Amino acid sequence: MHRIVSRTQLSPNVTRLDVEAPRIAQIRQPGQFVIVRRAERAERIPLTIADTDPVAGTIALVIQAVGKSTRELVALGVGDFIRDISGPLGMPTEVIEKGRALCIGGGVGTAVVHPIAQGLHQRGVAVVSVIGGRSKEWVIFEEELKRLGEVVVCTDDGSYGRKGFVTDAAKELLTAGGIDIVYAVGPVPMMRAVANLTRPFGVHTIVSLNPVMVDGTGMCGGCRVEVGGETKFACVDGPEFDGHKVDFDLLADRLSTYRTQEQEAATRCGDDCRIGLQK
Ligand code: NAD
Ligand code: FES
Repeated sequence: MHRIVSRTQLSPNVTRLDVEAPRIAQIRQPGQFVIVRRAERAERIPLTIADTDPVAGTIALVIQAVGKSTRELVALGVGDFIRDISGPLGMPTEVIEKGRALCIGGGVGTAVVHPIAQGLHQRGVAVVSVIGGRSKEWVIFEEELKRLGEVVVCTDDGSYGRKGFVTDAAKELLTAGGIDIVYAVGPVPMMRAVANLTRPFGVHTIVSLNPVMVDGTGMCGGCRVEVGGETKFACVDGPEFDGHKVDFDLLADRLSTYRTQEQEAATRCGDDCRIGLQK
């Protein structure tokens, strides 16, 4: 059992839970994730470890409430318990040792970019982050990333930072030069757009994929993705891959496989879930 020690609303449907998990807090590396089960019969949900406090023995989980299970998870409060947290799972981020890295976070994906930027910063790599949200209230982890380097904020409607997609700001930085590697995490169309943007610049680009996961240990095949023409399991081979080799069409297609069942479950759990799924 893992006690929730703090709960923060980051944006209208994104919540941060800081949870006691001392062993994971000590050994996790950037890019790794956990699988969370709220209660004994609850769905297993993969979540990136967005931050840790090894001294307090806590990890930060950032949850976008888009369906029944995530809605139930974010309904928990300080002092409540999460039944199981398995991890750390997945391969750690391929972190360069020197140079300048561009970290691009779209919406809730910005929470996944944060530990990558932390890992880079700890190794002395210069970090510039470009983060985006639909409008001001959807921008997250700005202050945390500012502690690690320069941050450019973008909003689709121009209500905060510069107006436009993260790819617009990223293009300017790539054109100016001096970027050794790009890390991008966010919605599939964003990661695909980043990969298409960086390809002509010849800059190595790593994306973090979020296919459907069940066991998280390479047993079920639910998380299979295609990278460079080969089948990979995101839970054990990833979740980070070379963005120039990922088959994004297949990923998008597989992510929509359970859309109907998710809609039905959300309908049963009420209006709030439906709003999340309509996005
Ligand atoms: P969103 O749709 O609000 O987009 C966030 C930002 O991404 C936008 O403000 C924009 O700057 C950029 N963006 C979006 N579409 C783009 C495009 N076509 N071209 C260029 N830039 C684009 O994001 P959200 O609602 O926070 O994210 C939800 C999605 O992210 C879900 O589909 C979820 O599955 C996915 N997600 C992915 C990961 C991961 O590890 N890759 C983690 C969490 C969530
Ligand atoms: Fe089952 Fe990856 S989640 S193989």
